[in-house]
Amino acid sequence: MQTQINNPATVLVTGATGTLGREVVKQLLQHSHHVRAFTRQSSPTVPQGVNIYQGDIRARSGLAEATKGVDTIIHCASFFESGYETDIQGTRHLIEAAKANGSPHLVYISIVGIDRSPFTYFQAKLEAERLVEQSNLPWTILRATQFHDYVLSLITSWTDENTSTITIPDGVRFQSVDVREVADSLVNLAEQPAAGHVPDLGGPEILMLEAMVDTYQLIYHKQNAVRTETLPGEYFDAFRSDVKLAPDRAVGQITWESFLQERAIVETAS
Ligand SMILES: NC(=O)c1ccc[n+]([C@@H]2O[C@H](COP(=O)([O-])OP(=O)(O)OC[C@H]3O[C@@H](n4cnc5c(N)ncnc54)[C@H](OP(=O)(O)O)[C@@H]3O)[C@@H](O)[C@H]2O)c1
Repeated sequence: MQTQINNPATVLVTGATGTLGREVVKQLLQHSHHVRAFTRQSSPTVPQGVNIYQGDIRARSGLAEATKGVDTIIHCASFFESGYETDIQGTRHLIEAAKANGSPHLVYISIVGIDRSPFTYFQAKLEAERLVEQSNLPWTILRATQFHDYVLSLITSWTDENTSTITIPDGVRFQSVDVREVADSLVNLAEQPAAGHVPDLGGPEILMLEAMVDTYQLIYHKQNAVRTETLPGEYFDAFRSDVKLAPDRAVGQITWESFLQERAIVETAS
């Protein structure tokens, strides 16, 4: 049981180089915490003042050193792979190392609706949640909807520049959320006593993918033809399912449109 919250605290961030982890690191620094970034990379780009701990949660390397003396772990590392060893075994390895070194608060980022979907990645996240719940560490789990960045990366990957076409799966709705708001929640949760499962964090609006693509094309001045297809497979089935939505938890405030406007300005300036 957590009795005392250190402030500033020593916080280990797994997945510190990822889309979410980078923002978590930035906000922890703004809150004056001592930040450790866990990564497989030997020379990652991290902000000044962050201590790098090289290792691999899947291979169980570097974890003993990284978890030694930490108050809190924010676990964002994940890898989309067959068998999902990084998410399942990696989480197990992280928990074992953390327990060998004390009893830090383990804050885990998960995904809305994973308990209502047969999608294998969601099932792996659910298994990782179970490991966290049964770890005997003080723990908190936040489930978020898809990130704006993720939807943007999908749209980009579905664009064929040669034919000026974007091919998207039909019947898909997203309630995407800005990663800065997810990071803000995680950092706030990390500064509180362990809370178990906390309410879901969903983006401000539920949008059809076609509408999201239209907004993207408008803001980025693109004129690709948009084709919708009934794409097969569990990945697209998961996209088509609405279990990933949290209509009662539309608490994020940064819309898809404002995210894109800001992103387009940054990209134009750089
Ligand atoms: N993307 C979404 O829309 C979304 C929505 C809700 C929840 N989430 C959850 O949020 C978390 C972060 O997602 P993200 O989109 O920010 O991920 P991401 O950008 O793909 O980053 C993944 C991170 O995991 C690290 N990693 C991968 N394999 C590793 C290993 N074996 N050992 C150590 N680190 C490893 C990578 O670090 P290095 O390459 O530097 O080692 C990287 O920093 C995930 O748990 C995801 O399930 C994502």
